[in-house]
Amino acid sequence: MPPHLGLIGRTATTDEPMRCAVLISGSGSGMEALVHAQRAAPLAHQTVLVISNQTDAEGVQRALALGLATEVVPHLKPSGERIPRHDHEAAVLEVLGQHNIEIVVLAGYMRLLSPRFLSRWGRPVVNIHPSLLPNFPGAHAHRDVLTSGATVTGCSIHLVDEGMDTGDLIAQACVPVLPHDDEVSLGRRVKVEEHRLYPQVLSWIAEGRVQLTTDGLRVEGQAPNRVC
Ligand code: GAR
Repeated sequence: MPPHLGLIGRTATTDEPMRCAVLISGSGSGMEALVHAQRAAPLAHQTVLVISNQTDAEGVQRALALGLATEVVPHLKPSGERIPRHDHEAAVLEVLGQHNIEIVVLAGYMRLLSPRFLSRWGRPVVNIHPSLLPNFPGAHAHRDVLTSGATVTGCSIHLVDEGMDTGDLIAQACVPVLPHDDEVSLGRRVKVEEHRLYPQVLSWIAEGRVQLTTDGLRVEGQAPNRVC
């Protein structure tokens, strides 16, 4: 039986790390935490590019302060008019192509990627979402969790497909919902887990431990469907 190929088609090493582009729209705390982790210890992945669709995102300043190659690819014209999705995505693809990127890492990127983008890109895209998917997808996960009365939430890292916060789950982490939580307090505690989990999952991917098999996605050394 042939060995299963990892998602990037090679086994990355600390000497030849997996080249990540991190896409952001907002504060960029996840991107920053990832880069700190990559700089604190030798890992088999490295952030070599940050792309923001928001010109004034705080994350752009964070990326520049970290000395990262940083590109703003706005989805709006200066007049405020929307740029057609395919034109915007073509511009993103062009920047990715210029930097020899192996994986797109979404970290608070608040735009859906079209099927055309995903097929033209043809390489993995991963996303982090602040809930235990498939529960509470969308842009208001913490609000929806609090409204539902759930007592446990968390974060999920998954492969991106054409749906919103769908795609094969790679890993999740749980966070209790406390009686006096609001969106801010809950979001802050979930981010602690997000910032721990993303570097770990990227190491699994870089090392070839995340594999797509005929039975779906599996992570070597992890029980399937393990939640938290
Ligand atoms: C993170 O909590 C991330 O999980 C969430 O946006 C936040 C970005 O924070 N992503 C989504 O909701 C995607 N559906 P950051 O900009 O400080 O990293």
